[in-house]
Amino acid sequence: MDSGLPLHIGIIMDGNGRWARQRSQIRTQGHLEGLKAAKRIVKAASDMGIKYLTLYAFSTENWKRAADEVGFIMGLIKQYLRNELDFYRENRIRIRHTGDAAGLPPDVQAELTSAAADTKDFEGMQVILAINYGGRNEIVRAVRKLAAGKSGADLSAISEQDITACLDNPDVPDPDLIIRSAGEYRTSNFLLWEGAYAELHVSTKLWPDWTGDDLTAALRDFQNRDRRFGGVKARDSI
Ligand code: IPE
Ligand code: IPE
Ligand code: MG
Repeated sequence: MDSGLPLHIGIIMDGNGRWARQRSQIRTQGHLEGLKAAKRIVKAASDMGIKYLTLYAFSTENWKRAADEVGFIMGLIKQYLRNELDFYRENRIRIRHTGDAAGLPPDVQAELTSAAADTKDFEGMQVILAINYGGRNEIVRAVRKLAAGKSGADLSAISEQDITACLDNPDVPDPDLIIRSAGEYRTSNFLLWEGAYAELHVSTKLWPDWTGDDLTAALRDFQNRDRRFGGVKARDSI
């Protein structure tokens, strides 16, 4: 892109628990502050002209946590979806979901469906909330969709494009940049298929401490990357 901005940014919002522990607070306090950081970053990204922002809010593996913590996070997500409608409207932000909706509590599913419906015509930034999301789970669901109704001969002709077309949001372009807060160098099952050629930016800062300046620093880092997609630059070819 001419602007040098990534079209699509994915963020692994990690470090809420550590943020709370550092302050001798309970983990849920970290999630509350993490939600505030998410709101700051959505506003900053929208103001910067980012078109797609995927936020990893709850993974298919996060169900392993204590029931109290899981229940608190689900409550926060519901509250966020319900209370932010004016903000989406003012900023023309479209809300979408990626992940296994069927595995979510019915009230969270209902909030997600209604936020997506209320914002579907907004032409500003698209915020894709990854909730009960796992990259492997998304691929499995895509393959199941694809295989349903296909005969043996059709199955052997399956292409990458066919699988891409059965992912949760096939019209959303692959992420150019994946950011992870809190210093861990792993994907934790985030956008495995779509992130094949994403640039990775890891920040040691814990998610609740994130501000627009951290996003700006990540974008600056991205702008200095040399993306080759497996090819070579013209100047290097002999
Ligand atoms: C990220 O923060 C939020 C979720 C995974 C839901 P964590 O809760 O993983 O925080 P740490 O990694 O324990 O610090
Ligand atoms: C990844 O963070 C998931 C989310 C941010 C929602 P985790 O805290 O679950 O990842 P691991 O356990 O450190 O790999
Ligand atoms: Mg974590």
